[in-house]
Amino acid sequence: MTLAILSALAEEQQGIFEQLEQPRRVQHAGRSFGLGLWYGQPVVLALSRIGKVAAATTATALIERFGASRIVFTGVAGGVGEGVQVGDVVVAADFLQHDMNAAPLFPPYEVPLYDQTRFRCDEKLTTTLLIAASASGICAGGRFCLNPEPPRIHHGLVASGDRFVSAASEVQALQTALRAHGHEALAVEMEGAAVAQVCHDYGVPFAAMRSISDRADDTAHVDFPEFIRSVASRYAQTILAEFMQRLG
Ligand code: ADE
Repeated sequence: MTLAILSALAEEQQGIFEQLEQPRRVQHAGRSFGLGLWYGQPVVLALSRIGKVAAATTATALIERFGASRIVFTGVAGGVGEGVQVGDVVVAADFLQHDMNAAPLFPPYEVPLYDQTRFRCDEKLTTTLLIAASASGICAGGRFCLNPEPPRIHHGLVASGDRFVSAASEVQALQTALRAHGHEALAVEMEGAAVAQVCHDYGVPFAAMRSISDRADDTAHVDFPEFIRSVASRYAQTILAEFMQRLG
C-alpha cells in the first residue's frame, strides 16, 4: 500500500524527503521521485510542476510506475470562498475544472463523455486529512497571521484551471459563472481536478489539502511567492505528519 504525496512545486513539500527512512531517488518521465518509509509506511514523493496536464502525467506515473494505491496532494491555493483567508487550510471535498467548457455539446464544466462535472475525493482519506489539519494547530506566522484567531479549516469544492487567478474582477467573474451552474468554490488552483480525474479512472483513492497563499486578487502575485517561500512547507510537514500517524 504505497501512499503518494504529490505537490506542484518543491517548496510545497520541502523537508519531507529528509524525514524518510531508506530514502532513494528515481528519475522517470522527466521528474525526480523520492521513495522511502515515513512513519513506517511506504511513500513516494512527487512534484508535478504547474498545470493540469503536468499533474495528470505525474499522477499516472505514480500509479503505473510506482504502484501508488492512494494519492494525497499538498500545496497552496488562492482563496475565493467567503471567509477563506490567507493562512487558512482548505481540505477538498471535490474538484471541478473551471476552464472546461464543451458547450453546446455538453453542459459547461462537464467533462465530456464522463457524464460528470465534479470528482469527489475519497471519504476516508479526506476525513483523516481534516482530523490531521485540526490537530496540527498550524499558524502561518509573520505577516501572514492576519488575525489573532488560528487559521480556519474549510471543507468543500476546489476549482482547478490552467490559469493563475490574480484579479478581484477575475474572481468575481469566475464565481458568478460557477454559481450560475450551482457550484460554490472555496479555492482555485491549477492541478487538483486533473489528479482527481486520473484517480477516478484508475479507482485510486485521492484526497487533497491546500493552504491559502493568496486571495486570487490584485495582490496574489506578491502573496503567492512569499507564502510559497516562507510558509507552505511548514503546513505540509505539520499536517501530513499528523495525517501519517492516523493513516490505517
Ligand atoms: N495557486 C495559488 N494561488 C493561486 C491562484 N491565485 N490562482 C491559481 N492557482 C493558485
